[in-house]
Amino acid sequence: MQWNSGNRRITVLLLLLFLHTPSHAQVVFSANAESWYQRYSHYPPQCSTTAQMQNRTIPPLTTVGHGESRLQHVTVILRHGARTPVHNQTCGVPLEPWTCPPSTYLAADRATDDEWLTFPQIYDALQFPQYNLSNILPGTCQIGQLLEQGMQQQLTNGLHLRRAYIHSDDEDGPSHKNLHLPLGGSLDKAVYFRSDDEQRTLQSGQLLLQAMLGKELEQSGGLTIHTADYTRDIVGDHEALCPRLAEFRERFYRTRDFRIFNESDDAKELRQFQQEVLGSTGDISDCLLTTICSDRELHPKINDYDGDQNSETSMFSRLLRFYVQQRTMLATFDFAEYSKLVSGPLRAEIMKNIQTFVESGGETYVPPFALFSGHDSTIMAILASMDMFDEQWPTYASMLIIEIHEINLDGRKDPALYTSDFGFRMIYDGKVITDQMKGCPSGQEICDSTKLLEAMYYDVKTRNCERLYAIPVEFTPAVTQATAILVSSRSAFGGFLLLVFFGMTLGGLFTYLYFAHWVPLNLQRKMGAPGRAEMDGIMVEEPVCYGGDADDGKRRSGHTALPTDDSENFTIDDEDDDFVITNTQLT
Ligand SMILES: *[C@@H]1O[C@H](CO)[C@@H](O)[C@H](O)[C@H]1NC(C)=O
Ligand SMILES: *[C@@H]1O[C@H](CO)[C@@H](O)[C@H](O)[C@H]1NC(C)=O
Ligand SMILES: *[C@@H]1O[C@H](CO)[C@@H](O)[C@H](O)[C@H]1NC(C)=O
Ligand SMILES: *[C@@H]1O[C@H](CO)[C@@H](O)[C@H](O)[C@H]1NC(C)=O
Repeated sequence: MQWNSGNRRITVLLLLLFLHTPSHAQVVFSANAESWYQRYSHYPPQCSTTAQMQNRTIPPLTTVGHGESRLQHVTVILRHGARTPVHNQTCGVPLEPWTCPPSTYLAADRATDDEWLTFPQIYDALQFPQYNLSNILPGTCQIGQLLEQGMQQQLTNGLHLRRAYIHSDDEDGPSHKNLHLPLGGSLDKAVYFRSDDEQRTLQSGQLLLQAMLGKELEQSGGLTIHTADYTRDIVGDHEALCPRLAEFRERFYRTRDFRIFNESDDAKELRQFQQEVLGSTGDISDCLLTTICSDRELHPKINDYDGDQNSETSMFSRLLRFYVQQRTMLATFDFAEYSKLVSGPLRAEIMKNIQTFVESGGETYVPPFALFSGHDSTIMAILASMDMFDEQWPTYASMLIIEIHEINLDGRKDPALYTSDFGFRMIYDGKVITDQMKGCPSGQEICDSTKLLEAMYYDVKTRNCERLYAIPVEFTPAVTQATAILVSSRSAFGGFLLLVFFGMTLGGLFTYLYFAHWVPLNLQRKMGAPGRAEMDGIMVEEPVCYGGDADDGKRRSGHTALPTDDSENFTIDDEDDDFVITNTQLT
């Protein structure tokens, strides 16, 4: 087996699945599948019901005729499937226990034997909830564990890929012309599988690959999973590792747009409803979705989803939208600066293969198939960084596919459309979105690869995670006291006015100089260049908490690191004293 060739002392995590070789149109994984998605009349798209998953087949090439292009490489960026909640959070009714059959198996390398013993892993220890000794979720599931629904979703994804790129049901080759993926040789070489080190992403990727590669994978004996320490990894959000990301979030929360949104009557009404009726505060989108998508009971006052995500009357829709919008707004805020930085290192990993291949004119071998198994935030950040995000929260088992096609077969490419010999097609949840990329003509199915390289490219050398803005740690008490004395003493009131006048004049002069470009460039950058005008100003920051989540005990607080040289140039605004930044958790 492939696994044996590695370091023998490594304990290998094997997640096995008993799966029949896909030969029918639909692999039925679970006997329970019939009973899923029955309780409610409608499910939000985020659930990815069986019917919704069936719809996400890979479209055939339509505008490019047979013989004009040849598929050379496919990269899939995946979101894990349906899962248990990531918090012990309720949305109005007590949490029913979550029960999971053992679906994760561990195997250790015995060094001498080809036979592996696998050990099912189950989260049923620690059962003294009355003494506060329990797992996070009641029942036998890990937080964020892939559910049977999620497994089925990934099998369906795998079959879609198989049919498009490898074998259709009734033919020897793929169902679509020009989409045959040249896997050849050893699968462990031909397939690059990258995941972060979480049960749901690892297992999602394994299931997809098993369904996609079927017998060929069984014969080859498995694939290597490329991963990294979870706390250092960059597949999803990694705000705690990169202070500038936390700073972008803080800045976003202080924009006019966000404040208007967060202080609107609608927002007030929703917060009040949530507190009074559902008995909770804070982001409950995770609870809403894990409840409805797994047919659990919704509180009667929010059991009103009618299929319209934009409904003004459904409390379910309104609450979900309220919290989802806070994330999507951050993703696109200020030319998607948050998304560009957060997705940068992963884009660099993804593009390494593609760029090497394209720039060598197809001469350098790279794995023809690459899978990056991650989260909603992974897909959202990549799309937003390319200005292609539709502001819809990525659904369970979402797939963003990048196909690389050789287009200059026999010198037949259209030089007006293609400057290079390679093109790309991009597909998101079964829809071709190539022409949404900057520089790709409307309706174009395969666009020049140079556009992809420009949009996805990221140079890790340029990654800078330091805070951009210097933020003073504390008020200077002397100034505050002096002002207080001036204001409280009548005789000094005139002096106070004078001070205000003096301040305004100085401010005006400074503004003039700023717009007249008399201020040194470095200072302009720290002040926020024009174009970032939606910022309310840079404010004095009390100690903030960020980069963690209250639930997992990772919250940390502290002063922001800062140079103090030009601190007097910052607006003082102390209305946000107990401003708390909470990191969104990977979902
Ligand atoms: C599947 O796609 C078709 C055509 O786009 C659409 O009419 C139908 O509603 C979709 N079904 C589901 C379950 O999403
Ligand atoms: C239960 O334990 C958690 C941490 O394990 C702690 O945060 C919480 O305060 C405890 N609750 C009670 C009632 O002791
Ligand atoms: C989970 O939430 C319930 C209800 O809010 C609470 O009673 C229980 O102690 C919580 N469990 C943990 C592990 O925090
Ligand atoms: C939104 O407004 C609520 C209520 O004023 C406040 O508690 C919350 O911190 C605000 N959210 C952010 C991110 O500022």
